Amino acid sequence: MADDKDPSSIEEQWLSLRTSRRQFLRAAAGTVAAASLGVWSGILGTGENSAGLRVASADEQTLRDVALWRHALPRGVLYGAAAIKAHLENDAPFAKRFAEECYILVPESSLKWSTLRPSRDVFNFRDGDWLSDFAEQHGMLFRGHTLVWHGAVPGWLAKTINPGNAAELLLEHIERVVRHYAGRVHSWDVVNEAIEPRDGQPNSLRKSLWLDNYGPNYIADAFRAVSMADRRAMLVYNDYGLEYNTRADGARRAAVLNLLTRLKAEGVPVHALGMQAHLRSEWTKEFDPGLLRSFLREVADLGLKIMVTELDVSDQALPTDEKERDIGVADAYKRYLDVVLAEPSVISVTTWGLSDRYTWLTRAYPRSDKTRQRPLPLDADLRPKAAWRALAEAFKKAPNRSRIIKNRNPWIFPY
Ligand code: XIL
Repeated sequence: MADDKDPSSIEEQWLSLRTSRRQFLRAAAGTVAAASLGVWSGILGTGENSAGLRVASADEQTLRDVALWRHALPRGVLYGAAAIKAHLENDAPFAKRFAEECYILVPESSLKWSTLRPSRDVFNFRDGDWLSDFAEQHGMLFRGHTLVWHGAVPGWLAKTINPGNAAELLLEHIERVVRHYAGRVHSWDVVNEAIEPRDGQPNSLRKSLWLDNYGPNYIADAFRAVSMADRRAMLVYNDYGLEYNTRADGARRAAVLNLLTRLKAEGVPVHALGMQAHLRSEWTKEFDPGLLRSFLREVADLGLKIMVTELDVSDQALPTDEKERDIGVADAYKRYLDVVLAEPSVISVTTWGLSDRYTWLTRAYPRSDKTRQRPLPLDADLRPKAAWRALAEAFKKAPNRSRIIKNRNPWIFPY
């Protein structure tokens, strides 16, 4: 184990949260541990016929009939997506598809400071609670995103914070928020995007209100505080720009590795690296499988798990034709997932949204032809696209890591 958490008691606590879906899964997972993956293949109908030959048409059919999370889980991988409350609350067909496809729900904005803390004295848990309840009702795990970030800073915080009160402000926030959700959160993105080599700071830390006012120890202190407030959650350092063979990504990979190495050496309770994985369809030359693979290995060698936390593929540079765009996007999914899922320490894949109906990229990276981006597994009409298929196929052929069940690792199979 990576730290002093007692796996059996953690598992007990998660068990008390289980829903009927989790009960089903637990029974099925037990079957895997006891027998073999063939049993699962039978359950899912995704295996081979009695002669050991693939049955193409049945296979094709079952690929589509099986939800993404069901493709992922037998391999020991958790699949889910980010969403905001308004979309799940007001768009019933979307909510239905979300619950069908996902095993994890990540609040896209509800747990960020700007939403959660309209003023210093007010903690607005309404949206986060609604999402946590939605996850629970549908047997999904719930991720916490995010406690410490340079973004989504409310105006009052920017005005109030100074070196004399920064620690109190941050630790009070962590204490209140993490305790509020304790026992309901599978994993917390404790610190988000703390590295920016271009800022020229020691250890490539990003210049931010936390670094300026708290000092570089804010990172280790935040992890320690979250661990004290929730002994059960998996604690994640989350960052972007780790995927490509570019000078900027290379510098960020080195700095992230250096940060994680130092945290581990100091005994800080960090359990996983979150790789955001906001991919770009046009960056094909910059994608270097060997380089990414060895980075993942180096992270895993520190004793850390890896979570793909915000996967999507911008089609900004692709032509207007939808078919062409969907092929380009799916290709980026496939090439990326083939590499990351080959690393057994990768335990989850969450996309940053499920359907093109709701994607931050349409605003953040608008297309010049003004059409909406198509970066996600389902199109705007909730129909699976080539990207959905790329995910399903990548999960299906991923090496199995569900043997971890035998080790009762509750962070991976916490039901
Ligand atoms: C984005 C949300 O998707 C947007 O809706 C919001 O306006 C800005 O934040 N990295 C992160 C996420 O860690 O929190 C960001 O989410 C996307 C980039």
